[in-house]
Amino acid sequence: MNDKTFLMIPGPTPVPERVLLEIAKHPIGHRSSEFSSILEEVYANLKYVFQTKNDVFMYTSSGTGAMCAALENLINEGDKVLSLVIGNFGNRWAKIAESRGAVVEKIEVQPGEVIDPAVLKKRLDEDINKEIKIVTLTHSETSTGAANDIKALCALIKEHGALSVVDGVTSVCAMPCKPDEWGIDVLISGSQKGFMIPPGLAFLTASEKAWKVYEQCKHPSFYFDWAAHKKSVQANSTPFTPAVNLIAGLNVALKMIKEEGIENVNARHKKHAMALRKALKAINMKLLVENDENASYAITSIVPPEGISVPEIRKALKNDFDIVVANGQNQLKDKIFRMGTLGFVCDRDLIASVGALEAVLYKLGHKFNLGDGVKTIIEELSK
Ligand SMILES: Cc1ncc(COP(=O)(O)O)c(C=O)c1O
Repeated sequence: MNDKTFLMIPGPTPVPERVLLEIAKHPIGHRSSEFSSILEEVYANLKYVFQTKNDVFMYTSSGTGAMCAALENLINEGDKVLSLVIGNFGNRWAKIAESRGAVVEKIEVQPGEVIDPAVLKKRLDEDINKEIKIVTLTHSETSTGAANDIKALCALIKEHGALSVVDGVTSVCAMPCKPDEWGIDVLISGSQKGFMIPPGLAFLTASEKAWKVYEQCKHPSFYFDWAAHKKSVQANSTPFTPAVNLIAGLNVALKMIKEEGIENVNARHKKHAMALRKALKAINMKLLVENDENASYAITSIVPPEGISVPEIRKALKNDFDIVVANGQNQLKDKIFRMGTLGFVCDRDLIASVGALEAVLYKLGHKFNLGDGVKTIIEELSK
């Protein structure tokens, strides 16, 4: 089967038809009053989704652009940055910090594990001279499917006095993430994830404390400059030519999120991820993140059964059902496959995907009770 692709990867994610139709319209001028009205709604609704009273900036870039927008506006050469690394994307923070001349130290764990708040506390307590200026963290680590306890970790960072800079690329919308309440100083995300629109936009919000550090930055980024974006947000404008069609689509998508309610959107993601985990266990599949408490609601990493390879599973899902699941990245390539439950995903998609996975595993000779996965997912989703 083809031409009916269901993207079950952690981004890009499926896009609602309403949003696609909006994006398909002729572009409008980015300095028109019509576009300014769209921006006014978008900026207001981004604050709602990010659950912050602070401005949310929008960049025409991928998520990595917003990561650069965070660190390139905060770091001076020689600054000390502590990077909490639970996978590839945590490591990306460290690389960006190094590219700005920061002295980077890492706390790193094995794939599938998360940062123990006690370990972070110990390191921060040792920093009696308060040399650590910034701590970078990943909320939902897409490369492994593990999720840090951002609330607990950011509370410790706040107590120490450093800035917390959080990657919420696959957590904003999917998982509760409350920058003002939890004391997150900088939070970034990307459009092709929980926001239900194609790739091309990224977002950033910063606390008052982060702004004070920005003011000390000797060489802030030109394209991503916070002050330029703040001025534009206040004028319902953008500093440069933005991706107007994507923003028009985002306006529709944000209204859909608001209609559903951000807490309900978070709860839907949790229900889907937990139901999927149970269904996978019911068909004798091993999960990379064993403990539900440490699992992302956006992505689940699965270890293939003995004798069946990741490429075989991915190929059969694609060829037989037009369902795309992701391979592992870097050192996890062909060791795990990843199923996304991120964004515009409904119960039907989950039931169909688990059924398709059962069919594929059955064909490939995996030993399990046929139907147990579908039975479990139906039971879990009916709760
Ligand atoms: C957690 C996380 N951070 C950062 C990124 C980078 O985003 P992009 O590929 O849009 O630059 C991704 C992309 O998958 C991600 O999942």
